[in-house]
Amino acid sequence: MPVYLDHAATTPVTPAALAAYTAQIARGGNPSSLHAAGQAARRVLEDARESLAASLGAHPTEVIFTSGGTEADNLAVKGLFWSRHGEDPRRTRILCSGIEHHAVGDTVEWLEKHEGAEPVWLPCDAAGVTSVDALRAEIARGPESVALVALMWANNEVGTVQPVREAAEIAAEHGIPVHSDAVQAFGHLPVDFASSGLATMAVSGHKIGAPVGIGAFVARRDTAPVPVLHGGGQQRGLRSGTLDAAGAAAFAVAAHDAVAHLPEEANRLAGLRDRLLAGIEREVPGAVVSGPPLGKSVPGGSASAEAPQRLPGIAHVTFPGCEGDSLLFLLDMAGIATSTGSACTAGVPRPSHVLLAMGRTEDEARGSQRFSLGWNSTEADVDALVAAIGPAVSQARAAGMAGHASRIETASAARRP
Ligand SMILES: Cc1ncc(COP(=O)(O)O)c(C=O)c1O
Repeated sequence: MPVYLDHAATTPVTPAALAAYTAQIARGGNPSSLHAAGQAARRVLEDARESLAASLGAHPTEVIFTSGGTEADNLAVKGLFWSRHGEDPRRTRILCSGIEHHAVGDTVEWLEKHEGAEPVWLPCDAAGVTSVDALRAEIARGPESVALVALMWANNEVGTVQPVREAAEIAAEHGIPVHSDAVQAFGHLPVDFASSGLATMAVSGHKIGAPVGIGAFVARRDTAPVPVLHGGGQQRGLRSGTLDAAGAAAFAVAAHDAVAHLPEEANRLAGLRDRLLAGIEREVPGAVVSGPPLGKSVPGGSASAEAPQRLPGIAHVTFPGCEGDSLLFLLDMAGIATSTGSACTAGVPRPSHVLLAMGRTEDEARGSQRFSLGWNSTEADVDALVAAIGPAVSQARAAGMAGHASRIETASAARRP
């Protein structure tokens, strides 16, 4: 049986979400059509919006369905920049955490290249926590020049939770909107949009058991982002395009179930994660766990009254002297799916910008692996990884750090029958 430890990339669709999806896809209907079939689809869609809003701690009118997290991040960052800069041309700066997902980071860089935005990349500490002091100082340097702040809720590579509420409070003193990419946090940590102080937020269905292709842009009613897509004017003109009632229904069900069982499931995942990390430390002495110290991680649990500092389901480990891609292929050959956690462009591995921002060296960044757990992860999955990791690391170390391309060739050739 293959072992899947890459739930942060995408998690399998849950049976309940699949049932909701297939029921609506079989019925069909365009929610904007005026006939009975269209109106039935509209009811499914609006019920889903209401249910998802409740799971998010938002008002239904604040929930705009999108194709996923990337689209929601683009709409937030571009939309807020265009509207704020349009109102006051002095607002050119985007204060953005240096550890954002590319959906935010590359959007900010695009705005720099094409729209005259001036990004300010906020630093983080060794555990991956973005500095609120740096944010405060940058705002103080010229609040009138800040278009928006972007700070993700929890990082997708190392799992570190970010000081979102504090950032929102600091920015609110100057009326500056804050966007948070909550794609990895929603469903795993308590996320309440109403009390967060955020102007906008992005979430995605396929990270919590809905199909790929549905997400949501959550926007406070007093924000007026400029739309990215133009067309039929659906969803208050903020996101034109035929509405996906089936995807929305599945997302609502997956979100409801994740939020309803969040404390128990987060405890279960944190337990599996700690078992995995203890096993790795036993099998591979010298392996370095990334992120905040363990033991303060249980959302809503009784172990700590403090706010959670890391996602329950993500374990990120550096294996000194080992290339992350080699390790990934070796584990894959052993039937275990993992991730290096960082972007790989056209087959060329790049050291993770997140780990570099955390002060790790390029070699450390390249020798890392992310193991992520989800709703159908079991102790047997963790134990299979623990059994395979020692030999895989030894082999990856023997392969050395040089000649990445030839190692990929060797690894993929070895997988051929
Ligand atoms: C933090 C974060 N933001 C955004 C995205 C993009 O979401 P989607 O795949 O739904 O476009 C991801 C997916 O990996 C993510 O982890």
